[in-house]
Amino acid sequence: MWPSFDEAVAFIQSKTQIRPAAGIILGSGLGGLVHELDVEVSIPYADIPNFPVSTVQGHKGKLIFGYLSKVPVVVMQGRFHYYEGYTMQQVCFPIRVMKLLGADKLLVSNAAGGMNPNFQVGDLMLIRDHINLFPENPLRGPNDSSWGPRFPDMSHAYNKQFIEYAENIAQSLSIPIHKGVYAGVPGPCFETPAEYRYLRIIGADAVGMSTVPEIITAVHAGMQCFGISVITDLGIEGQVHRITHEEVMEAAHRAEKKMTALFRALIQKIS
Ligand code: HPA
Repeated sequence: MWPSFDEAVAFIQSKTQIRPAAGIILGSGLGGLVHELDVEVSIPYADIPNFPVSTVQGHKGKLIFGYLSKVPVVVMQGRFHYYEGYTMQQVCFPIRVMKLLGADKLLVSNAAGGMNPNFQVGDLMLIRDHINLFPENPLRGPNDSSWGPRFPDMSHAYNKQFIEYAENIAQSLSIPIHKGVYAGVPGPCFETPAEYRYLRIIGADAVGMSTVPEIITAVHAGMQCFGISVITDLGIEGQVHRITHEEVMEAAHRAEKKMTALFRALIQKIS
């Protein structure tokens, strides 16, 4: 069941007049974009009625309202992961709140392992499609058709125009970029070598423990979506080695500047 949205929206609207054009989710180690924001108000998740509270290291747990490249945005600094024990509806609750606040676009970043042999640690991948390997779907259960259809189309989940803009921006900023398929897995284990190989065989270029539930919820709600993965480790045959959360965070931090520059330019272009 979805927690009630009304109190969360009313509370937020009592704190800010901003009507965001877009929602932005910053992944593990990728929170630095907030330094580029003209922040109007910053609301800890813990203060917002019905909002889950983030538990992972490196996630600050704040909903930030402000302007990025003069565009009004709402930024989630830290997201909720299924592996933390939240229900899918808790994980995706903020997406519907963003939509109710006026955002009809969603920009997402994440840290991901790379299976594509052309990838290196620190590379960026524009998500052109995903594979849902979570054992659950946030839309399971009674469908409220005021949000969207019972059987949502997922053939255009990631906005093609946004991807094209991002490719052009990356080129003009001399940021090398890949395009690929993101596999969303429940975690919290990183993959075994056999699992990375399996993910490659089924058509994924990168793997991570987020994004897919949020994108499903956003697509269902009619939001235009964009996603970027920062490759923080490699799941390439012969190159799989021990990884830690710290290594993932460190690699994400190193790629953060490129990603932030891209988001800044993209938000301006699409607004
Ligand atoms: N697997 C799953 N999730 C991840 C990885 C990975 O290799 N890297 C960062 N998040």
